[in-house]
Amino acid sequence: MAEPQAIHLKDYLPPAYLVDDVALKFDLDDHATRVSARLKMRRHPQREAGLPLELFGTALRLTHIAIEGQPLDEDEYRLDAERLVIAKVPERFELTTEVIIDPAANTALEGLYRSSSMFCTQCEPEGFRRITYYPDRPDVMATFTTTVIGDRERLPVLLSNGNPTESGELPNGRHFVTWRDPFPKPSYLFALVAGALEKVEDHFTTVSGRQVTLQIWVERENLDKTEFAMGALKRAMKWDEEAYGREYDLDLFMIVAVNDFNMGAMENKGLNIFNSSAVLANPATTVDANFQRVEGIVAHEYFHNWSGNRVTCRDWFQLALKEGFTVFRDQSFSADVNSAPVKRIEDVSVLRTMQFAEDAGPTAHPVRPESFIEISNFYTLTVYEKGAEIVRMLRQLLGAERFRTGADLYFSRFDGQAVRVEDFVSSMSEAGDVDLTRFMRWYAQAGTPVLDVEGEYDAKAQVYRLKVRQHTPATPGQPAERKLPLHLPLRLGLLDAGGAAIPLWLDGESRGTDTVVELFEAEHEFRFERVPSAPVPSLLRGFSAPVKLRFPYDREQLALLVKYDEDGFNRWDAGQRLALAAIEEVMLALQAGAEPRLDPTLLDVFTHLLDTPSDDLAVLAEMLKLPSEAYIAGEQEAIDIDAIHQARRFVTRALGEALEPRFRALFEANQSEAPYAPSFEQIAQRSLRNVALGYLCATGGEKALHLAQHQFEQDRNMTDVRAALTLLAHSDAHQLGDPAVKAFGERWAHDPLVMDQWFAIQVTRPQPDVLDRVRFLMRHPAFSIKNPNKVRALIGAFANLNRVNFHRLDGEGYRLVADVVIELNRLNPDIAARIVTPLTRFQRLDAKRQSLMRAELERIRREPLSRNLFEVIEKALA
Ligand code: ARG
Ligand code: ZN
Repeated sequence: MAEPQAIHLKDYLPPAYLVDDVALKFDLDDHATRVSARLKMRRHPQREAGLPLELFGTALRLTHIAIEGQPLDEDEYRLDAERLVIAKVPERFELTTEVIIDPAANTALEGLYRSSSMFCTQCEPEGFRRITYYPDRPDVMATFTTTVIGDRERLPVLLSNGNPTESGELPNGRHFVTWRDPFPKPSYLFALVAGALEKVEDHFTTVSGRQVTLQIWVERENLDKTEFAMGALKRAMKWDEEAYGREYDLDLFMIVAVNDFNMGAMENKGLNIFNSSAVLANPATTVDANFQRVEGIVAHEYFHNWSGNRVTCRDWFQLALKEGFTVFRDQSFSADVNSAPVKRIEDVSVLRTMQFAEDAGPTAHPVRPESFIEISNFYTLTVYEKGAEIVRMLRQLLGAERFRTGADLYFSRFDGQAVRVEDFVSSMSEAGDVDLTRFMRWYAQAGTPVLDVEGEYDAKAQVYRLKVRQHTPATPGQPAERKLPLHLPLRLGLLDAGGAAIPLWLDGESRGTDTVVELFEAEHEFRFERVPSAPVPSLLRGFSAPVKLRFPYDREQLALLVKYDEDGFNRWDAGQRLALAAIEEVMLALQAGAEPRLDPTLLDVFTHLLDTPSDDLAVLAEMLKLPSEAYIAGEQEAIDIDAIHQARRFVTRALGEALEPRFRALFEANQSEAPYAPSFEQIAQRSLRNVALGYLCATGGEKALHLAQHQFEQDRNMTDVRAALTLLAHSDAHQLGDPAVKAFGERWAHDPLVMDQWFAIQVTRPQPDVLDRVRFLMRHPAFSIKNPNKVRALIGAFANLNRVNFHRLDGEGYRLVADVVIELNRLNPDIAARIVTPLTRFQRLDAKRQSLMRAELERIRREPLSRNLFEVIEKALA
């Protein structure tokens, strides 16, 4: 077999032929679904005449092909495993084909497949070619008419994009529905769903007074989990009208929940298909964080109707054009309807922990990659989250108003078109009247930029000089010396020794107490005047750019920022820096075999936080959380897995012991009798309560564990139950943990989304016996390697969240994950290439672990690899 080849952005050519209109007919059957297609095609006006027609197709059995009704002879076309090429076609023609596909055998979950008792599709990015022969690329946009035929009993509901136009009975107990989508769309937005589904229905009146019918389709047992998503959808529709002036364009908007889904959800025109974990929610089964995830994803997919569907991508290199912008839009929405500072803290935590790790690893790539082997591998944190940070910086640089003008311009100018990142940025540049030439480098340059900042105070002149240098470290294919300085906004302020904000004077101009300076060059110096005393700078407020900021803070300065900075985000960030320093100090002691101590400054800050009434409980809860092991690891030159784990535990326990009465009081003060609501006020309360419980349990004291047990038994809502169960299951008190785990598993055996949580709780136990538990649970009847949610809950949670055990020195953690990857490579290449990620992150580990991890990757490499896994493994072992 030939090695998979990379595709390059620089080789882009428009398609030789366009499709104007498509008529599809699906005759559904588990193993032999018949798909007939009629494509109205014409030559692309910018391509020369006489070019062959190239259509993509994978795992299709062609039974008929004709042009203008004239069946083709076998020597008139060429077929291979990926393509159908017809040497000669007219300028304008109708192509008809018929193929047979096998949805029941489709374990890749791309194209048309079976999930539970239903049929559904996933076409982005290249799944449509598993349905019919087609120029399956986003710059080919057509209107679609789709007829779905199925068994009336088994498949009473037949859905596709757009509006239903016709339906009726057919012989042999079959029936059909025809759907028409009037908006031209690329094939990746095609969708079909068929099954025994039930719906909840609601309505939304748009700003111009049109009535839109909203439907959420689920299996009957999930009808009681749809209310929250419906509310979220209506909030999102309203928000997009107000914040971006975007109105919905069809009369019907449908969401379907499916159990087997590779990602979170998909924005198919008028028919969004969701992983059930990203749409179903109710208080008994869903934790607060998942309510918020549902709200965010419902909004995200809805927002795509404009940023993605009405204006789409020319090619897949431009993926961040729709994803980065849409993530930014859903982040802004969630910030507006919840606690804005906490939303920012959460988003930045994900970025700094996971995207920074991607930037530092072997698969680092620019937000707009220059080449790929398998595009599915590029639905990454870099494209999504860093892509969103880029849009956020544009908003910061332009200001809210001009940013909105730029967005309006982009939507109106490119409506109905497939465009590039340049088209978005030039709309912004035009509307904002700013030069964004250098800003474009953010899309091309991989890696996390580092800002090195120094301050120098001249008491006599009352001048404070801030020196800022930026550089971006090397990434694969981009050596450090080729990295160029980036254009970025640095938001900042200055505090005096008492914590008061110092008025900012820059170049003779007053800037209030909070300002933004712009960086373009490798080095800048900012000279603040009229500074009465040596200041403490508060830098990168709100995380105004996705960079690593270095400033030689001492602990007292950080404590000052935690207590007094006017920027909530930076108060949190200063606390994280302080906690990190305290944990690193313990790590050093442990490595030296010395007695570790709890940093008194950290203790002082925690005491202050617990004793000072706070008007933002949600932020307080975040401030009381220590940085995760993954975040700590990302900050180390050389990663000592065990020292990180031990040190973090030590600090948690020491804080719990030193502040026990305060945590106890916090726990009790945040007991609410109100009926559960996923409101941010209540979420903050529960979060505080469970953070407190965590510190109390970390002391190992029996009293604390009984509190957890009591909370578990009270059974008030899944958030409190799960928090308590996790503490019990992760403690050494087997006599409490084991029965609770067992009871929970039996009670929820019927609910797959709760069982996912049950798996994740167990496989993240820090105790060394966990590996047997993982193996045991892989044979549990509720587990299936074919279901991506189960794989993520069991293997993903183990490999990513249970660092001490995944990185066991006997290599058994690595081996287990590699075994799963090898099996998934045959079943579901997309998931295989994602689940392997932790095995590729060996660069800063010790030599022993490096060689064990490499050995597992070598073992995987000896398999006949899918394109997805081939690309990741080659990059990791390069
Ligand atoms: N466009 C979808 C979203 O809203 C993601 C689709 C991802 N598909 C894939 N095969 N990775 O983010
Ligand atoms: Zn998206």
